[in-house]
Amino acid sequence: MSRKPATPNGRFRSQEWFEAPGHIDMAALYLERFMNYGITPQELRSGRPIIGIAQSGSDLSPCNRIHLDLAQRVREGIRDAGGICMEFPCHPIFENCRRPTAAVDRNLSFMTLVEILHGYPLDAVVLTTGCDKTTPAGIMAATAVDIPAIVLSGGPMLDGWHDGDLVGSGTVIWRSRRKLAAGEITEDEFLEAACASAPSAGHCNTMGTASTMNAVAETLGLSLPGCSAIPAPYRERGQMAYETGRRIVEMAYEDLKPSKILTKASFLNAIAAVAALGGSTNAQPHIVAMARHAGVELTPEDWMAAYDIPLILNMQPAGKYLGERFHRAGGVPAIHVELLKAGMLDGTAATITGKTIAENVEGRETRDREMIRTVAEPLMERAGFLVLKGNLFDFAIMKTSVISPEFRQRYLSEPGREGVFEGRAIVFDGSTDYHERINDPALNIDEHCILVIRGSGPVGWPGSAEVVNMQPPDALLKKGITSLPTIGDGRQSGTADSPSILNASPESAVGGGLAWLRTGDTIRIDINTGACDMLVSAEEIEKRKADGIPAYPESMTMWQEIYRQTVGQLHTGAVMEPALKYTKIADKMPRH
Ligand code: FES
Ligand code: MG
Repeated sequence: MSRKPATPNGRFRSQEWFEAPGHIDMAALYLERFMNYGITPQELRSGRPIIGIAQSGSDLSPCNRIHLDLAQRVREGIRDAGGICMEFPCHPIFENCRRPTAAVDRNLSFMTLVEILHGYPLDAVVLTTGCDKTTPAGIMAATAVDIPAIVLSGGPMLDGWHDGDLVGSGTVIWRSRRKLAAGEITEDEFLEAACASAPSAGHCNTMGTASTMNAVAETLGLSLPGCSAIPAPYRERGQMAYETGRRIVEMAYEDLKPSKILTKASFLNAIAAVAALGGSTNAQPHIVAMARHAGVELTPEDWMAAYDIPLILNMQPAGKYLGERFHRAGGVPAIHVELLKAGMLDGTAATITGKTIAENVEGRETRDREMIRTVAEPLMERAGFLVLKGNLFDFAIMKTSVISPEFRQRYLSEPGREGVFEGRAIVFDGSTDYHERINDPALNIDEHCILVIRGSGPVGWPGSAEVVNMQPPDALLKKGITSLPTIGDGRQSGTADSPSILNASPESAVGGGLAWLRTGDTIRIDINTGACDMLVSAEEIEKRKADGIPAYPESMTMWQEIYRQTVGQLHTGAVMEPALKYTKIADKMPRH
């Protein structure tokens, strides 16, 4: 009577609990407590798949809170398709509010989800995503466990409006911060503009890290097509939740696990999509982390191969508009169509629909050319991340799509030396030091300076802080100089419009080159070759090593200590290195 799953033994994982062959006492124990909220033993012993809903929404996760409502539609989809659902909470990750940084929680949420997916009777999982790190954390865990998984984004907020202008998440903060420092607005006006950018439930409405990572999930083939861009309050969001619930039941029967979907081609597609979208620089460590848990190695060359991909989406921070228009213009499938036409996406990559990515998006070309351009007539050439290296670090990236014409003119247009800039380093040890000293007249900061921040990487912060988009001193802002070149071993917000050199690895705290830089040194940046060096002799650098690694703050919690002991660097995804030993553990059944 009942359908059999396409698993190697023709059984669901959960049957090892609820039928527990040869262990009726254990089966009874596993079953009985679910009765206390009304499930029947017949349901749990019916051979139907048990589908987890990894609930990432809560009052502490406002960006994902819509999932508390959406879960009802997911459940209805699961039931209609013949599954049984069990919803459980994820460790909250709220990008803007978690101190010292939400980055320290990506690996914690990953690790706890691995334990849940492995240790409980679950056959498949719906990953509810939204805020920046909730997407990679969920995908990393489902991939490590290798259990059928589908991503349901909660969707962005509606577009924000203030004083007749579009105001986007994050971008409004960076702009208002500059206006406040220049004395153009009051503190009250700052708060008013910031709050106007958040008009409804949902995650950031710009192409910041949240929208980028949900678009990445869709490009990896882990969401239903069109899922990521639907604004949270739209009716299509509830419909997508229902369809996602239905599809995951089929995936459980098909035993369609991440290992059957995620290949090197999927990750190269994700890198290409990030370039075309003008996506967040945070995509770099997250894509690498997901790839490594999937057993795929990405190299600096893989990122550079996407450098030539142009910007085709007109969305803040690289462009003009916000999430609602992106969805109406066709969302991520319309981006895929353009990249496929240009041969910049591998259309044969597998997806959770059971079809290829090219089959999924057939006929979904945009009708809004103001929002989504063609590769032939883009908004900007070369929107990928430029990879840099030199004696300051082995790896760092720069999002050249946010270099303004004014910045390019001032720093990168010296006749005969286009793309080359030399400046005097002003070095800060962490963001507290930056805030204390940036307006110190003794530093004598002018437009020929490069602001450098260290002690802000995975070990130094800990977690790696979004601090590299440092604002120039107030005196320069008043003169109309809104950005200086910046370098750091931390990250920056995906919504920042600053052309920083960031994610520098290895970081200062583990003895990377930034540790030996001193204020007053000259740094040369060449964006033609990707070279970035301090013009300091090797002998002098050796001498400076006697001073030791610049101090960074102590751990304040046990998790911070564990995190620091296990984390790698940003260029390798800042994953817990020992976690890579544990792959495809769904098949390794835990003991009774
Ligand atoms: Fe949560 Fe941007 S702060 S999505
Ligand atoms: Mg962010």
